[in-house]
Amino acid sequence: MARKIVVTSGKGGVGKTTVCCNLGVHLARKGYRVVVCDLDFGLNNADVVLGVEQLAVYDIVDVIEGRCRARQALVRHPRYPTLSSLASNKISDRYVSPQAIRLILETLSPRFDYILIDSPAGIDEGFHRAASCAEEALLVTTPHISAMRDADRVSGILASYHFREIGLVVNLVRRDMARKGEILSAEEISAALRLPVRAVVPEEDAFFLDNISERSRAFRRLADYYIEGDAEEKRLFGRWKR
Ligand SMILES: Nc1ncnc2c1ncn2[C@@H]1O[C@H](COP(=O)(O)OP(=O)(O)OP(=O)(O)O)[C@@H](O)[C@H]1O
Ligand SMILES: [Mg+2]
Repeated sequence: MARKIVVTSGKGGVGKTTVCCNLGVHLARKGYRVVVCDLDFGLNNADVVLGVEQLAVYDIVDVIEGRCRARQALVRHPRYPTLSSLASNKISDRYVSPQAIRLILETLSPRFDYILIDSPAGIDEGFHRAASCAEEALLVTTPHISAMRDADRVSGILASYHFREIGLVVNLVRRDMARKGEILSAEEISAALRLPVRAVVPEEDAFFLDNISERSRAFRRLADYYIEGDAEEKRLFGRWKR
């Protein structure tokens, strides 16, 4: 069964979609079977970030309304065969029930290792719909006070979902400012939000598929964190069975 991880933030534009898609790519590079599920209805752009926007025939609403099956709606990435994406609908004010989406993800779950859910900004219906589909959460913030305040608010709401884990990604970190102590450090942000930092991602203009930048290394380490967690669980489970 797939691990379902929602990538969320509260504040818009802090890098949820970037984190979700890059994590997906790095997990797929290691051979894991991944679905990036875009639940940002109306403002969906995970397909663009993944470079597959021309390839989607169906979206999640087509599945719900019976025009295709869940697997037919998946777009397989041309470069990473174990990476698929599921597009959300372009109409934002359409009601899509969380139960319907949970059912689709349950159908896909046995065939995948990870389902990464890209959440919309804000804390209204779309956020709750995305959060209710996952068992773990990654909260993205930047080192700026306004983003951290929203992250703190969201982290309080996420606590009511009883996630297995809520991890923090600090994105858009300017290295020059960090070096001079002009922005909060990852440790200070972690302490303020009372969440463990799983990745610190520098602000860096990188081509999406490049594999050498500092930014890319940060996403690779984030993928390793999830992979190692799985290995550890299997090891403990193996010992317990013995
Ligand atoms: N580490 C980074 N370095 C440089 N640019 C970045 C980085 N992370 C994100 N960006 C850029 O910032 C912009 C916003 O990122 P993204 O779309 O991932 O945010 P979001 O949280 O998903 O936004 P929204 O709330 O609108 O869904 C994009 O143009 C993206 O390319
Ligand atoms: Mg987004």
